[in-house]
Amino acid sequence: MSDRPRLLPLLGQAVHGGRDAMTCQYRCGNACDHPVPNESDNPYFGDVVRTEVSRRGVVRAGAVGALVLGFAGAGAASAAPALAAEAAPSEMPDVAPARFSGALTFKPIPPNKLDTFVVPNGYDHAVVIHWGDRVEPGAPEFDLHNQTAAAQSKQFGYNNDFVAVLPVDKRGRRALLVVNHEYTNENLMFPGFTTLDALSVEQLKVAIAAHGLSVVEIERVGNTGEWTPVSKGPRPYNRRITALSTRFEFTGPAAGSAWLKTAADPRGRVAIGTLNNCAGGVTPWGTVLSGEENFNQYFVGGDGAPEALKPRLARYGISTTTRYPSDSRKWDRADERFDLAKHPNEAHRFGWIVEVDPFDPEAKPRKHTALGRFKHEGANVIVAKSGHVVAYMGDDERFDYLYKFVSDKKYMPGNSAVARRHNLTLLESGSLYVAKLDYTSATEIDGTGKLPTDGAFNGTGRWIKLAQGNRSYVDGMTVADVLTFTRLAGDAVGATKMDRPEDVEPSLLTGKVYVALTNNTNRGVGTNPKADEANPRNANKHGQILEVVEDRGENAAETFTWSLPIVCGDPADASTYFAGYDKSKVSPISCPDNVAFDGAGNLWISTDGNALGSNDGLFATAVEGPERGHLKQFLTVPLGAETCGPFITTDNRSVFVAVQHPGEITGASVENPASTWPDGDYAKPGVVCTWRLDGRAIGS
Ligand code: FEO
Ligand code: CA
Ligand code: CA
Repeated sequence: MSDRPRLLPLLGQAVHGGRDAMTCQYRCGNACDHPVPNESDNPYFGDVVRTEVSRRGVVRAGAVGALVLGFAGAGAASAAPALAAEAAPSEMPDVAPARFSGALTFKPIPPNKLDTFVVPNGYDHAVVIHWGDRVEPGAPEFDLHNQTAAAQSKQFGYNNDFVAVLPVDKRGRRALLVVNHEYTNENLMFPGFTTLDALSVEQLKVAIAAHGLSVVEIERVGNTGEWTPVSKGPRPYNRRITALSTRFEFTGPAAGSAWLKTAADPRGRVAIGTLNNCAGGVTPWGTVLSGEENFNQYFVGGDGAPEALKPRLARYGISTTTRYPSDSRKWDRADERFDLAKHPNEAHRFGWIVEVDPFDPEAKPRKHTALGRFKHEGANVIVAKSGHVVAYMGDDERFDYLYKFVSDKKYMPGNSAVARRHNLTLLESGSLYVAKLDYTSATEIDGTGKLPTDGAFNGTGRWIKLAQGNRSYVDGMTVADVLTFTRLAGDAVGATKMDRPEDVEPSLLTGKVYVALTNNTNRGVGTNPKADEANPRNANKHGQILEVVEDRGENAAETFTWSLPIVCGDPADASTYFAGYDKSKVSPISCPDNVAFDGAGNLWISTDGNALGSNDGLFATAVEGPERGHLKQFLTVPLGAETCGPFITTDNRSVFVAVQHPGEITGASVENPASTWPDGDYAKPGVVCTWRLDGRAIGS
């Protein structure tokens, strides 16, 4: 067995909590070693301190039903008129989880440092696909020692992150697996690696091609919860989208603006590739949204950019003082568009939310400028009571902001081609908002995590409008400025500085929104902003979960209440909080990153950079009723890896996660791997499916 426990061969260098130094370099370009990009003097302590909060109850049952029906009514197969032509209307599948009343009965697994994938008793798991596996027709077999960009452009990419599984047929036999490939670890990809400078141009292009997304048709194994790639017959949906060659169309008010024009694209309408795609979401109309996150690290030459542009580049973490910052990927050697001294606007063509239609392999993916530009973790959509669609988004940087988008047009339910065409335009125009939080107990927050006397970290909040359609709501900024330099717009209106907002996802059952705030070891350190009620710990190593309840249960509302149901860490640590649940019964959790829901509305949380000494993992808890806060660990990933995805299939029988950067421990290489997962030789990122041996719904 390739998947057996293995002892740690390398010690690595843990920095900034639990993350290895190699993770910091390759994944986010040593973001924590750079100055905090948000130097705005926008206040961090509530300027309006409320002493009373009107605590909202749960969303009315009728509203819940409407939400779920609205989502389930979107037929994913209708996405591909040509391909779906043979499918009768009765074959149209739903893209939302079927509802079930499931308590989380699995026995939690303990924290561990094993080089294996661990699931609870009564469950099994298997690798669905990993780096280098064939995706597109004609893809060659992976050859570690003779990698080419052409081959990688047809093979499964590196460092899988977001995972979506969209049913293709109503019988639940076939589905499309859609996966982000966030970044590359060249030192773990190429035998004999010494430095990035020593890589050949072809190797750099392999790395560029290993970024992007994959669409892979998968099929159920027997009647189990296991899934495997379709291995025989036509696979018309299978597709690689890469940073090397895939063309993306800009939509929305900033498309065609001066900020997006380059020598290669003088109209500012089409970008080549997508970068650092982190989390994402499935839309009610069966497309996938994906966030372009730490795009800054791919650009060099910021010191040679026009002076007037430098503050804007710096606000996005791009060095304007050195040609090659320490985190540089050196991609300018493969393609000069990554050199900002020559092509200063190229960086503005990344940092967007992209929409991919996996059911139409010929469709050009789009970058939606109406959703703003920042280090987009991802985006998750819900149909509001008003019928408009709302996308929730986080900017994953210390002291950056929480956003939402509300479409101008309303969602059109149903499976018709007319509805699909209409819904595909919903993200092209709307209102972009940033969150400003107010507090109930601001004066009681001492930075230790001690609960205020009212017994909860909570308050009210407002969504501040930055732009609507073609109109800017920020003084001195055009709409193209607001959408292209959204961080500066957030600074200007005094948005609340958060502890790294990662995945932001609404529950389709309740409409309540959950935000993973990963950590912020700079909170309260030096001149950085101090703890506040929503970010209540200084030097915050473990992060927290924020719950947002929109006023009137209306996701398009401009006001909300919020609370922190979970303040992460070791339950024995007094600064932690698990919604008041008995802390002796909950699993330790650190650095929440991605969230997802099952059909019962349970919240699943994956972690990135566990600072408690365990491998990263996946956890689940109820968010309503007496089990709220009863957090249990469902799985752990192998050594050095981060748990990404996660995704619970619409039938609630399978949990997919992406094992990202296994063996990413300083000093590791192909020849001397820190992890040999999954095949027993060297580390390969891969997607794993977990299911219950008795075939029943996960967790129930
Ligand atoms: Fe790519 Fe914010 O994690
Ligand atoms: Ca993430
Ligand atoms: Ca998610």
